[in-house]
Amino acid sequence: MKKAYLATMIVVGLLMAGQAQADEALAKAKNCMTCHKTDAKLIGPAYKDVAAKYKAADIPTLTKKVLEGGSGIWGQVPMAPNKANVTEAEAKKLVTWILTLK
Ligand code: HEC
Repeated sequence: MKKAYLATMIVVGLLMAGQAQADEALAKAKNCMTCHKTDAKLIGPAYKDVAAKYKAADIPTLTKKVLEGGSGIWGQVPMAPNKANVTEAEAKKLVTWILTLK
């Protein structure tokens, strides 16, 4: 019984690691990483800083921000709208992933 539990946890762990990689690949594919890095400020804020600032309840607001763009939260440099190449579902997926990067 204990063994089965352990095996399950390992599988879940591997799946979660795989998922995180898939989401980072999506961020790269959608050019988010030209302006963002996970752990350092580039043109936009580090995703770790974004994760520290917001909670799960902010996911809808951040999803909209990714789609529509905007400025004034992290500085005067604006984020351009991404909705030409990012769907709402993808934006939500990316934001959800970003908030796990604490
Ligand atoms: C052209 C450069 C650029 C690209 C490309 C870009 N960002 Fe940004 N991003 C920024 C800047 C600049 C800010 C800070 C905006 C501000 O201060 O309000 C930002 C802010 C953010 C924030 C925080 C928003 C807030 O209100 O605090 C999130 C989340 C984010 N970006 C996600 C993404 C995702 C996901 C993508 C890819 C679909 C992406 N960004 C692509 C430049 C960019």
